[in-house]
Amino acid sequence: MERLKIVVTGGSGRVGRQVVACLAERHEVVNADLTPPTGPCAAQYMRADVMQIDELQQAFAGAEVVIHLAGLDYDWGCPDEAYINVNTRGSWHVLQAAEAVGVKRVVLCSSISICGLQEMRADWKPQSLPITEEHENRPIYAYGVSKQIAEIMGQSFERRGRMEVVSLRPLAVVLPETLSQYIAFVDKPDLHWLFYYVTAADLARAFRAAAETPGISGESFYIGADDSSHREATLEWASRILEDLPADQDPAWFVANPRASVFSNAKARRLLGWRPTSDFNSLRLQAAEGQSGDLEGV
Ligand SMILES: NC(=O)c1ccc[n+]([C@@H]2O[C@H](COP(=O)([O-])OP(=O)(O)OC[C@H]3O[C@@H](n4cnc5c(N)ncnc54)[C@H](O)[C@@H]3O)[C@@H](O)[C@H]2O)c1
Repeated sequence: MERLKIVVTGGSGRVGRQVVACLAERHEVVNADLTPPTGPCAAQYMRADVMQIDELQQAFAGAEVVIHLAGLDYDWGCPDEAYINVNTRGSWHVLQAAEAVGVKRVVLCSSISICGLQEMRADWKPQSLPITEEHENRPIYAYGVSKQIAEIMGQSFERRGRMEVVSLRPLAVVLPETLSQYIAFVDKPDLHWLFYYVTAADLARAFRAAAETPGISGESFYIGADDSSHREATLEWASRILEDLPADQDPAWFVANPRASVFSNAKARRLLGWRPTSDFNSLRLQAAEGQSGDLEGV
């Protein structure tokens, strides 16, 4: 494996810290973020604001790959215009700066929110199961729209032919410190949701796989666990929550694993060679024991 110089925007954040640590096992890593990391960090830190192209160009100089995580996450409940401004304009700046300094590959951090199905609207339900990257996207929340536009911008840079651009769409990210909180959320009676997740450790490995895999461009990938976080078989809870299940179903998906996620990770497995390692029943056990131990591998 060639040792690459990789710049991670947002490397001080929740996901960024995990991605930086995972990359640093094999590569030279620069963390370009507005705020410095707290605690030990395996990367060189450079202050860079994604709203400032010149700062990004300085941070990206000499890098082969940029992983763009910096932005405003849905969790923070920001004003709509802030999502569009920072996530959308910021992504354009990242793409423009990366192209200008000769970066070979940009990996954008998109989101499950691009599809709009996590909004759980009565007028927008899954059209197929499992949900793949072929599924239509119809978000109405600004956060999801900001990610949709960023993916489209990435495809336009890819067509310009000077660098490869791919987008990863993480499902709900579970960190060691948020596992118990996440379990309490999904165990709420009558929760109207789709019970998806990915562990931060598995997500970090997906970003590393995307950074290390040349020759794939203009593609998007859902990055999620194999299983759902619901205790029941997926088609049982899904038929209750969605009422009418779509006619377009891959029965083999839920035969192979009755608790399979409603979001397919098959494309990332196939093209990036990435494999998630988590099993939610095991995570429940770890969380139960977690008061006295740590939560390795989440
Ligand atoms: N956490 C999740 O469940 C989840 C799910 C899907 C996608 N994502 C995406 O993952 C990425 C990282 O999210 P996170 O959960 O780590 O969020 P986070 O808020 O923990 O980290 C975001 C980082 O971006 C930095 N940042 C914000 N504005 C910036 C700017 N103008 N210039 C430079 N840096 C800036 C922050 O300082 C922070 O370190 C985001 O793009 C988010 O949309 C997160």
